[in-house]
Amino acid sequence: MVTTAVQVGSLSLKNPVLAASGTFGFGREMAQYQDLSRLGGICSKGLTLRPRAGNPPPRVAETSCGMLNSVGLQNPGLDVFLRDELPFMRQQGCAVIVNVAGHSTDEYCEMCRRLDQTPVDAIELNLSCPNVREGCMLIGSDARQIESLIRQVKQETRKPVWAKLTPNVTSIGDMALAAQRGGADAIVLINTLLGLAIDYRTRRPILGNNTGGLSGPAIKPVALRMVAEVSQMVDLPLIGVGGIMNGQDAIEFLIAGASAIEIGTASLIRPTACTDILEEMTALAQADGVTDLAEYRGTLRLWGY
Ligand SMILES: Cc1cc2nc3c(=O)[nH]c(=O)nc-3n(C[C@H](O)[C@H](O)[C@H](O)COP(=O)(O)O)c2cc1C
Repeated sequence: MVTTAVQVGSLSLKNPVLAASGTFGFGREMAQYQDLSRLGGICSKGLTLRPRAGNPPPRVAETSCGMLNSVGLQNPGLDVFLRDELPFMRQQGCAVIVNVAGHSTDEYCEMCRRLDQTPVDAIELNLSCPNVREGCMLIGSDARQIESLIRQVKQETRKPVWAKLTPNVTSIGDMALAAQRGGADAIVLINTLLGLAIDYRTRRPILGNNTGGLSGPAIKPVALRMVAEVSQMVDLPLIGVGGIMNGQDAIEFLIAGASAIEIGTASLIRPTACTDILEEMTALAQADGVTDLAEYRGTLRLWGY
């Protein structure tokens, strides 16, 4: 038997496998393929205060070893989520993490204030959003904005606040340190990498939004490097995400320093990916003589020079 329970700060998870935001909806459609109580938790589709229609189609494009998406935060808004989706999520017997997006500090703060009064387990801040009050610069690419946003949000809620960072920055370590200074309870690495797909015949971008976010196996080495780098720099729990397709990938993220992992694109290919990957992790651990998945965390043996 392999112990699978892990801690992410104050939050206890029955296992380290979480469904990544935007690839699992609110769990409803995925429940027909697997028993969701087997998951560590579900990160909701990214929510905004008001409903959003999202970007013009096409919104997804296949690429080598991955995909681009430009969904553009289509979502029903916080009110509809709280009324129609949260009760369902809460009944599934796994942790409920709400992914929050905003276009101003006020929007993030209001959402966190309202979520504080609900039975969610943690709030995951999607920091890959432009701040319309600050010249539309991505919040997550400005250390000053990351720190200030998290500090303000933390005053609105006692729920654990996870900072989900964008990899589209010069120094991920600086962004992680800013999140730590702001008071984040955990850091989630990584969101998608900005990319472009072109149809050579029409000479047009394939996505209706021109650019989109790259995910899937293509980004795994970038995500692993960022988790390993940040784990040397901050004291917070890390959650690794990016291109995890099987149990071996997942264990590599634990070794790099993650306490838990999220599965995104893999669920779009194989709806049972999350539960399959958990089974693969425990089978690999057992074969390795590892009795507790948490034993893998942060055991990367870097080469010395
Ligand atoms: C179709 C799609 C929609 C996504 N929507 C969100 C979202 O709403 N909020 C968010 O923080 N991340 C979103 N993501 C990013 C994923 O949660 C994840 O960070 C990223 O895809 C990397 O993991 P993966 O390679 O396992 O997919 C989305 C990804 C995809 C593919």
